[in-house]
Amino acid sequence: MVTGATAGIGAAFARRLAAEGHDLVLVARDGQRLADLAAELTGRHGGRVEVLVADLSTDEGCGTVEERLRDPVEPVDLLVNNAGISLNRSFLRSTVADETRLLRLNVHAVLRLTLAALPGMTERGHGAVINVSSVAGFGPVMPGSTYSASKAWVTNFSQSVAQSVRRYGVRVMALCPGYTRTEFHERAGIDMSRTPSWVWLRADDVVRDALRDLRRGRMVSVPDWRYKVAVLVLRHAPSRLWRALARDSRGRIGRTEG
Ligand SMILES: NC(=O)c1ccc[n+]([C@@H]2O[C@H](COP(=O)([O-])OP(=O)(O)OC[C@H]3O[C@@H](n4cnc5c(N)ncnc54)[C@H](OP(=O)(O)O)[C@@H]3O)[C@@H](O)[C@H]2O)c1
Repeated sequence: MVTGATAGIGAAFARRLAAEGHDLVLVARDGQRLADLAAELTGRHGGRVEVLVADLSTDEGCGTVEERLRDPVEPVDLLVNNAGISLNRSFLRSTVADETRLLRLNVHAVLRLTLAALPGMTERGHGAVINVSSVAGFGPVMPGSTYSASKAWVTNFSQSVAQSVRRYGVRVMALCPGYTRTEFHERAGIDMSRTPSWVWLRADDVVRDALRDLRRGRMVSVPDWRYKVAVLVLRHAPSRLWRALARDSRGRIGRTEG
């Protein structure tokens, strides 16, 4: 099962897993895009593709997907909690409604779906959950943005749960990509035109590295050597240095707000 499967990293997971011969359950809000992707994947690879239209920032949407995850007849062996958003507004100018929507999707849905998936997996003695986090979760690198705090939660949560289910043959991994070319920044209204081209990753490469790291039993996957170095800096360099490198303008007061 892949959430946020209609675009970006989620669509890359769906295409890769279908090509490897897996049946799929694809989750997102846009029913037409889901149906188009399902038709493309069955046409090309022949596997079964089920779609679930759900807004994971709502209780109802989470409930629909939880029910599918708990189905003992057609169990889900790999859950990719990928759907996530960022905001383009500093915390001081934000609203409770927007911050709640971000937390409900980036944090609450990840918690709920992981909790729905794991008991069946531990009973069966196999299965895996990939929670798509971000390099941004390793430090508050976007001044005034709450996005990195939500991703810090996802990484910490995944590592913690991973240790508790490992003995049952079940893996949980946080996937922490850097900047990846998808619809993500445009959807949030974040202007990335001044971001140098060398920082961008391809979604297909992120997914390839993630599945390799999952097979190797990693609890945290950081695709690409450039971002592995960035994580080392975030973890060990003096905060003065990474504050100077923090160029992402989401959350800075006044620069990108209307
Ligand atoms: N792109 C980056 O630079 C980057 C870097 C690090 C981490 N990430 C993380 O990677 C994950 C995927 O992002 P992406 O870059 O692939 O973004 P994207 O291209 O914008 O795709 C987001 C996907 O999530 C779905 N989605 C959004 N809101 C949803 C909701 N309320 N309920 C259900 N589905 C929803 C969207 O489909 P619908 O609109 O059809 O619902 C879409 O399929 C996110 O968790 C993001 O934080 C991205």
